[in-house]
Amino acid sequence: MTFETLILEKKATIAVITLNRPAVLNALSNTLTKELGAALQDCAHDEAIGAVVLTGSEKAFAAGADIGEMKDKTYTEAYLEDFITTSWEEISKFRKPIIAAVSGFALGGGNEIAMMCDFILASDTAKFGQPEISLGIIPGAGGTQRLTHAIGKAKAMEMILTGRMISAEEAEKAGLVSRVIPAAELQAEAEKVATKIAGFSRPSVLMAKEAVNKAFETTLAEGVKFERRLFQSTFATEDQKEGMAAFVEKRKPVFKHR
Ligand code: CAA
Repeated sequence: MTFETLILEKKATIAVITLNRPAVLNALSNTLTKELGAALQDCAHDEAIGAVVLTGSEKAFAAGADIGEMKDKTYTEAYLEDFITTSWEEISKFRKPIIAAVSGFALGGGNEIAMMCDFILASDTAKFGQPEISLGIIPGAGGTQRLTHAIGKAKAMEMILTGRMISAEEAEKAGLVSRVIPAAELQAEAEKVATKIAGFSRPSVLMAKEAVNKAFETTLAEGVKFERRLFQSTFATEDQKEGMAAFVEKRKPVFKHR
């Protein structure tokens, strides 16, 4: 599949989606978000693909929603389009693991789409921020919620009320990113991690993702019960039998995703 604003590459068991509007630091235009939705749909339906890496350029993962495109939007248009949710939600609805590999700026909607991914691997050049307040708006694609869940109220509130950007190092300390990696190694490391995940039993990987995400939506007691039911259901898979047999026989398991 070819796109105008991004590149979709498939590498054996993983897909790499590279946001590609360098002239505007990968600002998230309507076309880009629609194409991102279509690329994810393609990956969702491709049985060979077990995990996805979402990335940008060295200078910018994405510098936010496209300001030129939205500056004249009226309230009625924003409301009728349900701006900004529709196509952006493809990321949070995506069932296979998706890793954000972030270099440079991840601002506004850029930080929001990174946070919709399952985890963020950041290069040491990454900068995260929600600068919407300086444009006379507030975050509109989950920033006030996901950032608060990720790093807690004090830091999220400060970032959102002041627009202050944080470095990769500060983001890692705060829990926004899982790891900081030297810029030159980020892409290879993200692809290595995605390939590792794609090699595990897909039903178990999807269930693990679903169970972790449940922690944001429910009580501890309900979440633990949900986890237990999924855990028990893994015993219905061929991959559980294979995984445990391989351990006992001291060999590598061959998962068939069944
Ligand atoms: N939308 C449209 N164009 C953008 C853009 C954006 N979000 N961010 C950068 N660009 C464009 C710039 O206008 C510039 O274009 P020209 O060369 O044609 O002038 C080009 O990208 C390069 O940008 P700069 O010259 O500004 O580069 P810089 O290195 O000096 O600064 C920056 C980088 C700090 C990221 C700065 O570009 C910036 O502040 N960008 C806007 C960030 C922002 O406010 N994002 C939030 C958007 S609102 C949002 O996302 C809402 C939501 O929650 C969904």
